Amino acid sequence: MSPLPAFLTLRNGELHFEGVPLSRLAHEHGTPLFVYSKAAMLEALAAYQRGLSGRKHLICYAMKANSSLAILQTLVREGCGLDIVSGGELERALAAGVDPAKVIFSGVGKTRAEMRRALEVGIGCFNVESIAELDVLDEVARGMGLRAPVSLRVNPNVDAKTHPYISTGLKGNKFGIAHESAVATYRHAASCAGLRVVGIDCHIGSQITQVEPYLDAMDRVLDLVEAVEAAGVHIGHIDFGGGLGIDYSGDVPPAADALWAQLLAKLDARGFGDRAIYIEPGRSLVGNAGVCLTEVLYLKPGEQKNFLIVDAAMNDLPRPAMYQAYHRIEPVKPRDGEASIMWDVVGPVCESGDWLGHERSLAVQPGDLLAVLSAGAYCMSMASNYNTRGRAAEVLVDGDRATVIRHRETAADQLRLETLLS
Ligand code: LLP
Repeated sequence: MSPLPAFLTLRNGELHFEGVPLSRLAHEHGTPLFVYSKAAMLEALAAYQRGLSGRKHLICYAMKANSSLAILQTLVREGCGLDIVSGGELERALAAGVDPAKVIFSGVGKTRAEMRRALEVGIGCFNVESIAELDVLDEVARGMGLRAPVSLRVNPNVDAKTHPYISTGLKGNKFGIAHESAVATYRHAASCAGLRVVGIDCHIGSQITQVEPYLDAMDRVLDLVEAVEAAGVHIGHIDFGGGLGIDYSGDVPPAADALWAQLLAKLDARGFGDRAIYIEPGRSLVGNAGVCLTEVLYLKPGEQKNFLIVDAAMNDLPRPAMYQAYHRIEPVKPRDGEASIMWDVVGPVCESGDWLGHERSLAVQPGDLLAVLSAGAYCMSMASNYNTRGRAAEVLVDGDRATVIRHRETAADQLRLETLLS
């Protein structure tokens, strides 16, 4: 059995996050319940900070991974900027107190309204993904008498060796500007009165657990920096996109500081050590800093399969249904000495795709609590109201203290925006 994520420990027969027993939180706040460890987030961030110390750099947390305000605040207070992908994320970022100059705006489909708002508050950089978007941004900025800071997201055509849905840097993906047209597009951007070129950007995918795709992407991006600068356009910062993968089930991604040692050596060897380095890690900062607590409702043994029906579902934890993703599931209070049997752990939603784990060996009874691990990233932020299920509550643990950072959504909350016909 691989070790538990940092700050999650089995003590006095039950799981704790930092100093707080998880069963206490479930009893106080109900289930499903997301619980996060502040120390785990800060430890993950520290690996990036160590790796980049002494360099001009900006770590922009990709808030799509988990955009709850207190999570943003925790990282912003440590100096992080934020990578946003929508007007909604911009408002969350501002509410969390980020310095707008540390906000970068990614995504293939920014609207004029989103561009206007981002220009109005003075964000640091637009990561532009197409010529059409560049032209619209130029027009919007000129209309406001401003110059929009831009970086072009280039598509390095590198295989990130991850799930096809979360691989973004190949020619067949909708993202980025093709490597071949990057120089011409930079020339065009530099000639637009409403734009100011500040950097270059790439992103090859998510849940990357190998070093090579990063090194390949860096080579391809630096080739472009050389070509773009030879064409007379200066590149101030180089943004290497998202962060590392995490350990879901024995995955062994490199440590962030070790990876950066290799990347920086390459950067220096190629003569670009003076550039500001931007990165946009999401999953690796929060993924293993969160668990989702769920209660066992019913045991439903069957001829072909045994189903363990829990109160969390695909609307709370969409990753298994969407990507066949594996999340470890652990009893909060293990029943030592009782026989385990094989279960499919499923939720109450009316879909056969509503499963959290297949073939898990567990000794459980109705009323027991389970912890779904590695649930800090792309779980709550992807949660939905399918089946009119209210979204879960969230708690942040810091040492022995636990703070509710989001209340459980009620049916009334869900009905609030709707109207009956007269
Ligand atoms: N920057 C950009 C432009 C991105 O598109 C992403 C993630 C990131 C940064 C952050 O990547 P990370 O450090 O988290 O790997 N919902 C999927 C993951 C989608 C990732 C999309 N882009 C999942 O649950 O696995």
